[in-house]
Amino acid sequence: MKSAEIREAFLRFFEEKGHTRVASSSLIPANDPTLLFTNAGMNQFKDCFLGLEKRAYTRATSSQKCVRAGGKHNDLENVGYTARHHTFFEMLGNFSFGDYFKRDAISYAWEFLTSEKWLNLPKEKLWVTVYASDDEAFDLWTKDIGVPVERMVRIGDNKGAPYASDNFWAMGDTGPCGPCTEIFFDHGADIWGGPPGSPEEDGDRYIEIWNNVFMQFNRTADGVLHPLPAPSVDTGMGLERISAVLQHVHSNYEIDLFQNLLNASAQAIGCANEEQASLKVVADHIRSCGFLIADGVTPSNEGRGYVLRRIIRRACRHGNKLGATGSFFYRIVAALVAEMGEAFPELKQQQAHIERVLKTEEEQFAKTLEQGLKILEQDLADLQGSVIPGEIIFKLYDTYGFPMDLTGDIARERELTLDEEGFEREMDAQRKRARASSAFGMDYNALVKVEGETRFTGYLGTTGEGKVLALFKDGAAVEQLHAGEEGVVVLDQTPFYAESGGQIGDAGFLAGEGLRFDVRDTTKAGGAFLHHGILDSGSLSVGASVEATVDASVRQATALNHSATHLLHAALRQVLGEHVSQKGSLVDSQRLRFDFSHFEAIKPEQLKELEDIVNREIRANTSVETQETDIETAKAKGAMALFGEKYGDRVRVLSMGGGFSVELCGGTHVSRTGDIGLFKITSEGGTAAGVRRIEAVTGAAAFAYLNGAEEQLKEAANLVKGSRDNLIDKLSGLLERNRQLEKELAQLKAKAASSAGDDLAGSAVDVKGVKVLSARLDGLDGKALLALVDQLKNKLGRALILLGGVLDDKVVLVAGVTADLTGQLKAGELMKQAAAAVGGKGGGRPDMAQGGGSEPAKLDEALALAKTFVEQGL
Ligand code: SER
Repeated sequence: MKSAEIREAFLRFFEEKGHTRVASSSLIPANDPTLLFTNAGMNQFKDCFLGLEKRAYTRATSSQKCVRAGGKHNDLENVGYTARHHTFFEMLGNFSFGDYFKRDAISYAWEFLTSEKWLNLPKEKLWVTVYASDDEAFDLWTKDIGVPVERMVRIGDNKGAPYASDNFWAMGDTGPCGPCTEIFFDHGADIWGGPPGSPEEDGDRYIEIWNNVFMQFNRTADGVLHPLPAPSVDTGMGLERISAVLQHVHSNYEIDLFQNLLNASAQAIGCANEEQASLKVVADHIRSCGFLIADGVTPSNEGRGYVLRRIIRRACRHGNKLGATGSFFYRIVAALVAEMGEAFPELKQQQAHIERVLKTEEEQFAKTLEQGLKILEQDLADLQGSVIPGEIIFKLYDTYGFPMDLTGDIARERELTLDEEGFEREMDAQRKRARASSAFGMDYNALVKVEGETRFTGYLGTTGEGKVLALFKDGAAVEQLHAGEEGVVVLDQTPFYAESGGQIGDAGFLAGEGLRFDVRDTTKAGGAFLHHGILDSGSLSVGASVEATVDASVRQATALNHSATHLLHAALRQVLGEHVSQKGSLVDSQRLRFDFSHFEAIKPEQLKELEDIVNREIRANTSVETQETDIETAKAKGAMALFGEKYGDRVRVLSMGGGFSVELCGGTHVSRTGDIGLFKITSEGGTAAGVRRIEAVTGAAAFAYLNGAEEQLKEAANLVKGSRDNLIDKLSGLLERNRQLEKELAQLKAKAASSAGDDLAGSAVDVKGVKVLSARLDGLDGKALLALVDQLKNKLGRALILLGGVLDDKVVLVAGVTADLTGQLKAGELMKQAAAAVGGKGGGRPDMAQGGGSEPAKLDEALALAKTFVEQGL
């Protein structure tokens, strides 16, 4: 069976068992600061397990994109060296939210794996583990299913702390968790390794293929396990591992999908495909990098972008080991798209962007390596002894991105060793600093959690009644808020828009019997809308009714910008091409900001074309249509969906200009495009490799912007005593006149210098038969002084001349020695001393030298050096 067929069979099996097929969510977890990347199928359902989010179904199945590199589940360093670890993999899963539990989960898993109709695996090759104290699961497996006790293994807390066990699964340090039962496949005696729980368990013989977690608890930061509202099920089976089993190969790298990627990697690098670990690393890493970039991550020095950067660099290093010269990694993207683009259209759509980002990063890394090598050379030149200290290895690693294994290679070549302990100490300190400043890994339970949902009524108006469902003060639920207190109010329904999709949350106020709560901002937590603000007067209790009023003028200004963003997005695709896809957006009442994939600066004529198209759509004044539908119908209509967004079962399709722009969007918009009034781009620039940013204004703000520009124009015209109409002619005239004057000035200076030369010649003194002349001439540049020195040389005969002056707060120095003297006195030598005296540097030929410095106060002292120089030199 091919991987694609296995994926489909799994989803179909569970559909037949009453599960709803749910699309993979983005690799960037939606609204979740606790996770670096999506690391399991259950991530998108986490609030369903906690009972905070209700969906239309209680059984779901999915094939989820996962990345395990960084964070709690991190496989990065294993990749390439085992048969089964990946940075990116697909996790097949079935989920029950308070529906079925252990018995059904176990029997479904067994049926899918072993029944003839489905995977038909030989039962005797399957082993099962359960959490040591989970007798219920043990009995279900042995008595109901009939797995012999010899192939059952109980695993306790084998990781050194309570519930730290291979058979107790947790998404992170806090949040949903529970005991699990894992199914292993025995790949046969010809492969090294022992059954789970044995000392040889890390070998590749017995491979875990399916993990069934019985979600029972929510772990809080104090380590306490709180029972979930309803016991649930979360399972995960790595598609690559089960493919290996069904394709009768023992390593994931031998499955259909990886064979093509390995071939493409070998070709791009220019080496043979011979099972090298490094080639596996490259073939693995192109998947995580390709998918992460498609989901909106770009390489950077922090957070997600930093992990991506490390994966790319690791791939480059391994490619180099195999002999790659120049950039090769980006060339494998085409093979990735061919292999997986069908199942994941985001890859296909963003191929050019992914290639561009990878190529830029590879080129930058090549430079980094070169620079790192230079630094290392310098440090090695000063090295005492034969050990490279940890601080140096760390500095190279941290500041110059220079991998430690490379430093190790170089050390070996020179018979040096590395102070690895010192390096680890520095790394530890660094990790601590990173943890302290990073939001990832924060306590999932510290986020405000609300039961119940808020109905949004704000598409139709900006006022409405609502009942207080919950109140929070300092993050904790309270029954009442008092005057003067800051807090969060949750209503059963509200016209306030909660920040999402780039649009900021609404502000306004809530009012009731003698009370007023000023709403500064509105955000979402699960299905609840949180009104953040301060209670101005009165008191507010759970259960109270309030009248909610949104600041309508801010809302309207924001709507103009949001609608204009959609028009701009569509126009960008028309002008620049279909590769343009949204990478970020911010919409408030003042302006709009739109980030998108594109590989070069936008030309001025393209910017103008964009403005023209958007303004044409505005003038067409078509009505803005919205429609609620399911995601598949929406996509079939050609609606632009963001791959990074989490969409519910029902989506809202927003169309403008009779199909000119069709997007999935929950935001608030104008009713006709003409409401936008006017659209004006205020800036265009790059934010990261392959990502451009446009900022623009609309409506009154656009008018004010143009007015401002007009005012500046008028002011400029006044300054040159002209008008708007002849400003350009006036300016050109002025510039021409300026050039003319500069020329005249230069001529005058030369003339002045020449007559100064005559005067100066007279002030030369005789030192041991040599005419020594040193003089101060402020306001002349180096060129003028040089000409003067030349002239003086001719006049004085056997002579040494040192001229200096101050120009723009800097010292300029020129020295000259006539040809008959350069054997004994060198202008360059004198210049070194003179320039040093004014805090600068200088040098040159024996007959002519130049220099400068930054301490004008010492100039006279420097000039006096000429005489001493001759006295001592002759
Ligand atoms: N969440 C569990 C895991 O990742 C089962 O899917 O192993």
